[in-house]
Parts: sequence; structure tokens; C-alpha cells
Amino acid sequence: MYFSKITATGAYVPESVITNDDLSKIVDTNDEWIVSRSGIRNRHFAVAEDENTSDIAAKACKMIIERSNISPEEIDLLIVATVSADYSTPSTACLVQAKVGAKNAIAFDIGAACSGFIFGLSIANKYIQAGTVKNVVVIGAEVLSKYLDFTDRGTCVLFGDGAAGVLLQRSQKRGIIAEEIGSDGSKGHALTGGDTPVKNAFSKCDGKANRSLKMDGRAIFDFATRQVPKSVESLLKKSETDRDTIDFVIAHQANSRIVQIISKKLKIPMEKFYLNMYEYGNTSSASIPIALNEMMEKGLIKEDSLGLLTGFGAGLTWGSMLIRF
Ligand code: UT7
Repeated sequence: MYFSKITATGAYVPESVITNDDLSKIVDTNDEWIVSRSGIRNRHFAVAEDENTSDIAAKACKMIIERSNISPEEIDLLIVATVSADYSTPSTACLVQAKVGAKNAIAFDIGAACSGFIFGLSIANKYIQAGTVKNVVVIGAEVLSKYLDFTDRGTCVLFGDGAAGVLLQRSQKRGIIAEEIGSDGSKGHALTGGDTPVKNAFSKCDGKANRSLKMDGRAIFDFATRQVPKSVESLLKKSETDRDTIDFVIAHQANSRIVQIISKKLKIPMEKFYLNMYEYGNTSSASIPIALNEMMEKGLIKEDSLGLLTGFGAGLTWGSMLIRF
């Protein structure tokens, strides 16, 4: 039986910081509303041509390799979770593969929005368990600012850009302990973006696309505060894990109020939840690995620490994972 362990992390976030006050100059909003409703103060936006999704993902990937015991050629599998790819094809993962020289990797993208990083880890773990690969890089990367409607104050103040990921390696020790993931496509209309309607020389449709993110914020809020606790309870039960043994929790960084409700429902104290949405906003698939990398850099994760990672979002999708570091 093969096990998987996270052995290195890395991240890259564009330098350009956009504050709540910056946004209040272009849309009818204010710092007080954004902070009190979401916990967000800043977000980083890609502003240069060389800061597209594959560029920032490649920078995060290079950092992961530098901090690891492997060369780019030793990466067997490269998964990028994203909903804001540079192109429909080639995949962001193939672009990253070329940028970092991971010439022996199988490379592909997955789209599971804010749960994407957990879905990616789940796939990577199964490849490792099957014995077909040893070294997998999983990255969550988003340039969501491409999809924001800066006249819609209900969405444009919430999201940000960034990339981060991990190296998952075959190991003697069980790193990924258990997972609980799922989807409910029947509620997918609550959060959409990047429409590409039918359009060809023979179509009768107008083909007009609305690329912007559209969200029923309240519906997503209710879904997250209902589904995440349910998913984590099921995860704890099936892995026979006592919640008090969890050292830290990284929940998707969408809204500090959502995290507080999750903490209360799960009876896991807020002190165990890492929060950094105040600096990056909601970076979708990048939010969990950005937080994980930050915790690693701050020395907050010790050998043998037990972490709970939990994501939720568009699709709708959700995913929780227990990981021993
Ligand atoms: O990544 C996963 C997907 N996303 C999420 O997890 C987001 C989940 N949802 C949320 O985080 C929250 O629902 C929001 C932060 C989006 C909104 O918070 P809310 O407490 O649900 O506010 P609301 O949408 O009910 O709006 C309350 C009021 C409205 O005004 P009225 O109708 O009460 O007069 C909005 O028009 O706040 C107004 N509003 C704003 N005011 C100032 C909405 N956006 C803004 C804004 N600035 N940016």
C-alpha cells in the first residue's frame, strides 16, 4: 500500500494590492461594509501581461521545486485546479509544465472552483496509491479579476488573484488520512462565470457572452454553512477521528462570517482556524494552498500536526480532507 505526504509548499501572489478604499472609488461600496460582511480588506490583482494564470502558477511551482528534494524532470504528474485558465486549450497545467521544465509529467487541469485544490489532492492521492506515480505537484491558481464586473458591488469586492500548491510524494507514512468530497450540479446556477454560448456560422443564437462572475451570495452562504459542517462530521466519523486532536483548520477563505459559523457548528474553536482573507480576498482554488503555504512559512505546522482542509463553492462543490504533516 502506498501513502501520500505533502513535502513542500509554495505560493505566488501578484504584487499589486487593491484596497477596499481603492474599490470604493469605482463602485458604490465602502471599507466598513466589506470588512464587516466578509472580513476582506485587500486583494491582489494581476495587472501585468505576464501575470496570467499560468505565469503565477509557474512561479508557485518553481518555489515548490526549489523547496523540495526533486528536479522538475522528476515531477510525474502536474495538476492545476483553476476556473480562470489562460486558454480553453492548452490547459494551464501544460503551460506550467513548459515554463518549469517538468518534461516528464502528465499535465492536466481540473475545474472544481473553490473546492478545486481538494479535488486535485484527491486525484493525486489516488494516482500515488495506485503505484503509478511518485511525485505530484498540485496547484490552485486563479486570475479571477479577468472575470469581475466592476459595476457589480456584490461580487467585485470579494475576489482576488493568486496561486499556490504543494508537492505530494509517495511515502511510508500516511499523510492524507481521509477525504469527503461531493458535488450538487442542480444548484450550479447560484455561481456562474465565463459563459461561452453557442456561436457558429449556422447558429441562430446571438452568441453574446457574459463572461463576468454572477453570484447569489446568500444562497452560497447558506450552502457553505450547511454543507461544510455536514461533510466534516461525516469525515470525522468515517476516519474515527476525535475533533479535539485536530491541530489546525484551513477553510476556504471566502468570508470570515462563514468560517465562524462553521467553527461553531463543528465545535472546533476559532483559534484553530487560520484566516488570511483580509489580505487576499477569495482566490477560489488558490485560497487553501495560499493559507497552507503561509502557515508553513510561519512555522505554524509542526511534524505530525493534524490538519483539516475544507473547501466549498461553485458547481456546487465541496471537499474536506484530513492530513497528517
Ligand atoms: O467562493 C465561494 C463562493 N462565494 C462565497 O462563499 C460567498 C458567500 N456569500 C457571502 O459571502 C455573502 O452573502 C456576501 C458577502 C456576498 C454578501 O453578504 P450578505 O450579508 O449576504 O449581504 P446581502 O447580499 O444580503 O446584501 C445586503 C445589503 C444589500 O442592500 P439592501 O438590499 O439591504 O439595501 C446589498 O445591496 O448590502 C448591499 N451590498 C453592498 N453594500 C455595500 C451588497 N454588496 C455591497 C457592497 N458594498 N460591496
